[in-house]
Amino acid sequence: MFLCLYKMAATSAATFSIGSTISLGTKVSQLPQSKPLSVRFNSQNTLATFSGLKAATFVKCESGSSFLGKESGAALQGAAAPKAQKSSQRSQHNLNPQASYKVAILGAAGGIGQPLALLVKMSPLISALHIYDIANVKGVAADLSHCNTPSQVLGFTGTSELPNSLKGVDVVVIPAGVPRKPGMTRDDLFSINANIVKTLVEAVADNCPDAFIHIISNPVNSTLPIAAEVLKQKGVYDPKKLFGVTTLDVVRANTFVAQKKNLKLIDVDVPVVGGHAGKTILPLLSKTRPPVSFNDEEVQELTVRIQNAGTEVVEAKEGAGSATLSMAYAAARFVESSLRALDGDADVYECSFVQSDLTELPFFASRVKLGRKGVEAFISSDLQGLTEYEQKALEALKPELKASIEKGIAFAQKQPVTT
Ligand code: 2OP
Repeated sequence: MFLCLYKMAATSAATFSIGSTISLGTKVSQLPQSKPLSVRFNSQNTLATFSGLKAATFVKCESGSSFLGKESGAALQGAAAPKAQKSSQRSQHNLNPQASYKVAILGAAGGIGQPLALLVKMSPLISALHIYDIANVKGVAADLSHCNTPSQVLGFTGTSELPNSLKGVDVVVIPAGVPRKPGMTRDDLFSINANIVKTLVEAVADNCPDAFIHIISNPVNSTLPIAAEVLKQKGVYDPKKLFGVTTLDVVRANTFVAQKKNLKLIDVDVPVVGGHAGKTILPLLSKTRPPVSFNDEEVQELTVRIQNAGTEVVEAKEGAGSATLSMAYAAARFVESSLRALDGDADVYECSFVQSDLTELPFFASRVKLGRKGVEAFISSDLQGLTEYEQKALEALKPELKASIEKGIAFAQKQPVTT
């Protein structure tokens, strides 16, 4: 057994089978600039198992270890190849095998909520999964509850059951709301989703004020500030624990860059900063790991594709909604990262739209280090040494992001919370 520092898209990486080694030294402030990446796969040159829910970042691990942990990994180990099981059994993992967290999903019967609930149900770190929606929860709960993973599934329907869905919960995920149709921007959802988020976050404040809160409902650039304002009015705002989920932008950036450069998908890590709408989404291609160079045309093409990727899905679905499966995947990864951070994993990094002083804007998406108490550090180095293109794009996104933030704050201030 030997200690390694590895970069992976899936800790399941862990799942990096016997003898797998990824080494990459780093310090928080230097992420992910420092040492060369080396990856050794098993004899078939493949990953033994790969759930993909771990962030592509630099994580201290033990050789052959798995994010499944020891006993707590039983659920997913069942699906792994025998070789991978051996690997996991042999491994020493830094997660607490007794970990037992409660997660609530508000809007769990919807397009994102259902696949998200399924992916979260697969986590070995969860003892209870509370799924809430205004309707159609019973069937989803019954369905999910048949999966023999460790968590117990409890369904909650309608506002009268909302408080109980939140009691004792460690992480609350909010995908509730309406999705875009072709021709709509995320901001066009504001009038409906702002109220939904406000109502739900009020309930979170009243019932589980210490929980990590993950906001998915669009427009995230405004709904996150609404949530912050609601929590402030309730006197329970902890900026370290409130997150706008922008993981999908990173997931898309990683995918598109890997495709363009013919790289292994799991190796690629592109930080995405700014916000979560159109040009406020700024992939920092110059910070791509492993290092890769792009010509001007590629930078332009990739940046625009990443910024419009949500619209690409909306148009492909022709009126049937926006991204649900990839959004659920990305959100599940963010949940998994949060749980690992809560569990004491000291090397968890994700991009997220959070209260920030990295720029003059009060909220800004950047890579952050997650710990037991939420955001532990901002990875400011990502914003240093930007290319001229990135620097210009960063300045250009600020007015729109600022306006969206102010719109959210003004909305919440005009409608004081219910006591
Ligand atoms: C997206 O980026 C739904 O906001 C989500 O596709």
